[in-house]
Amino acid sequence: MFLILKQHSAIMDKRTFLKQFSLGLLAATPTMNAIAALVEENKLLPANKLARTMDFWSSIRRHYKLKEDYINLENGYYCMMPQDTLNRYLEHVKMLNYEASYYMRTVQDENNLLMREKLAEMTGCSTDELVVTRNTTEALDLVIGGIHWEKGDEAIMAEQDYGAMLNMFRLMGERYGVVSKKINLPNHPKSDEEIVDLYASQITDKTRLLMVCHVVNINGQVLPVKKICEMAHSKGVEVLVDGAHSFAHLNVKPADLGCDYYGTSLHKWLSTPMGAGMLYVKKDKIKNLWPLMAESEKEPDDILRLNHTGTKPVHVDLGIADAIAYHNIIGAERKEARLKYLKQYWTQKVKDHPNIQLNTPHEDERSCAIANVLVKGMTSSEMSKVLLEEYKIWTVAINRPNVHGVRITPNLYTTERELDQFVAALEKMAAG
Ligand SMILES: Cc1ncc(COP(=O)(O)O)c(C=O)c1O
Repeated sequence: MFLILKQHSAIMDKRTFLKQFSLGLLAATPTMNAIAALVEENKLLPANKLARTMDFWSSIRRHYKLKEDYINLENGYYCMMPQDTLNRYLEHVKMLNYEASYYMRTVQDENNLLMREKLAEMTGCSTDELVVTRNTTEALDLVIGGIHWEKGDEAIMAEQDYGAMLNMFRLMGERYGVVSKKINLPNHPKSDEEIVDLYASQITDKTRLLMVCHVVNINGQVLPVKKICEMAHSKGVEVLVDGAHSFAHLNVKPADLGCDYYGTSLHKWLSTPMGAGMLYVKKDKIKNLWPLMAESEKEPDDILRLNHTGTKPVHVDLGIADAIAYHNIIGAERKEARLKYLKQYWTQKVKDHPNIQLNTPHEDERSCAIANVLVKGMTSSEMSKVLLEEYKIWTVAINRPNVHGVRITPNLYTTERELDQFVAALEKMAAG
């Protein structure tokens, strides 16, 4: 690596060299080359067939360093980096520590722009509609806290939304008199219209904003966001999408949803280093938002006006390009197909069990990797405890309106064998 850098330094201007050094773009790693070769070998297989090809996914599994103490079925909190992304990230950390303020005062902003350009490609928007944040909470709270609220304004959301966002709306209520109106999502809707109508039923002439999860984190339900946006816009209401669990999980470009705002955590399904997120704001909406922290004077429609957070761990942001490279080389369609297959693999085996209750829709278009399950007669906390202590399976207990059970989130490295172990554990628990 060092040799290559030296050679390049002789033929590049200093700035280009620095930029590339910090991005780690000078050489494709052996891992990347190996995946590219593997993908090439399997290029004639449709994604849903490749999803079942054990050899392919066993090779992918070898890119991860997995703890042997348990089977990790709790990838919903944070998706660990494959070793390749981790090693590149460590290089960024070392580089930052070596160059220190020199880096920050020379190419920091250019590299931030490069990350935004790469994310814009994945999002389907233009670079000036997107900023890198630390996580979904920062992205969504920026919008919720940035709207020019007036007393009595209403916002619509779901009981099943993420707690931090519900708390932010509560804060807006205490501070500005914003009224939160919550719908209750069914776990097994009969149609998209059932969901769309639920949101529509809460809209009044005071409604300013509708927030909706693309993937509900507690049970993995995928909501018909595009239809919800169309309905809300037809009534003059803006839509904020909580995309914490959809970006780089579902093979959908956020800009195609037709929403006004979209926030996500890149450390979830994109597997960047922890502490990276993204906010997309439709160009003509940028000027309407207050920033969370004041930036120096900028044009009202300059999205960077919303992005001041002081000195931050920019080596984390540099990991975005590496994570995108890893994601792209596997391919969004193949990734989604594998994750869907894994969820269907285990849920199909238990769905008719009289003592097992699935709290996630069965249909492929209404879920992907994540599902929630309850063994009747047990609490979710009992379940997660028994799963870990007796069966060495790591999960998370969920106790939220309408959703009581453990959340099961496999990732690309999860094997059918691990899921068989989980199913066997569930069956034993369900037998009493
Ligand atoms: C639906 C949803 N929204 C928001 C968040 C918050 O994400 P972060 O903690 O990365 O800001 C999460 C985290 O799990 C989530 O699942």
